[in-house]
Amino acid sequence: MGNKNRTVLVTGATSGVGLATVQTLKSSGYNVVLTGRNPDKVAECAQKTGTSGYVLDVSSETSCSKVVAQVEQEVGPLWGLVNNAGIWLEGNFETHTPADIRSVMETNTLGTMLMTHAVLPGLLERKSGAVVNVVSTAALYCRKSIAVYSGSKWAIRGFTGCLEVECAPKGVRVMGFYPGKVDSQMYASAGIDRDLQIAMSPADAAGMIEHMLSDEKMLWGHVSGRSAHDYA
Ligand SMILES: NC(=O)c1ccc[n+]([C@@H]2O[C@H](COP(=O)([O-])OP(=O)(O)OC[C@H]3O[C@@H](n4cnc5c(N)ncnc54)[C@H](OP(=O)(O)O)[C@@H]3O)[C@@H](O)[C@H]2O)c1
Repeated sequence: MGNKNRTVLVTGATSGVGLATVQTLKSSGYNVVLTGRNPDKVAECAQKTGTSGYVLDVSSETSCSKVVAQVEQEVGPLWGLVNNAGIWLEGNFETHTPADIRSVMETNTLGTMLMTHAVLPGLLERKSGAVVNVVSTAALYCRKSIAVYSGSKWAIRGFTGCLEVECAPKGVRVMGFYPGKVDSQMYASAGIDRDLQIAMSPADAAGMIEHMLSDEKMLWGHVSGRSAHDYA
């Protein structure tokens, strides 16, 4: 089956890795559904990329189930899901508010699980498809000042690995992508000033995601990558 018959939904696609992934997948011939939580940004990015756009807040169970059902009705059955939406939180753990902690867990962790929960039954029924979870190198090591973000991603590392084993025999690939620093809005949106000159570009990250989706003979379990400049 050609990529044009394959519909892939990308979350958090109004910026950074998500937006670049939409553009890269579209160039590879996929039928791409762009989603994001901000209606104005969704409309603008969908128009700019020539894709269908849907407002979707991954931290809301209702939004996840409703939008997936609407997309499958209006665009067609999904073949792929890229769980990309995520937010950053940095600082000593005791300085965070409970609301900050909840927000990171609900977006990065629960959002990935809820979206997978909404999409997976269709993939399993059709015995075909792929899920790529955008995790982070923060789920591969431990360091100070990122306890909540890291915890939110370590949880997804376990979730992804277990689902990989559960779904592979049923014809569905569930994979984890673990990028190092990416030159996106993520740190600035969290009020953190970070020098991203040594980071990989969102387009580089998107290229890796596209490869994971497209090379179907492989189950890309723990794919990590960072800019070579990151070691300078
Ligand atoms: N940047 C890095 O160095 C880095 C490294 C490793 C992994 N990652 C991961 O890469 C992924 C993409 O991040 P990025 O670097 O591209 O950051 P980004 O430029 O800030 O993009 C994040 C996207 O997620 C959206 N989003 C946030 N909360 C959402 C929610 N509840 N529902 C739906 N969409 C939501 C944002 O929408 P708004 O524009 O409306 O906020 C934005 O479109 C994240 O999972 C992040 O953890 C990033």
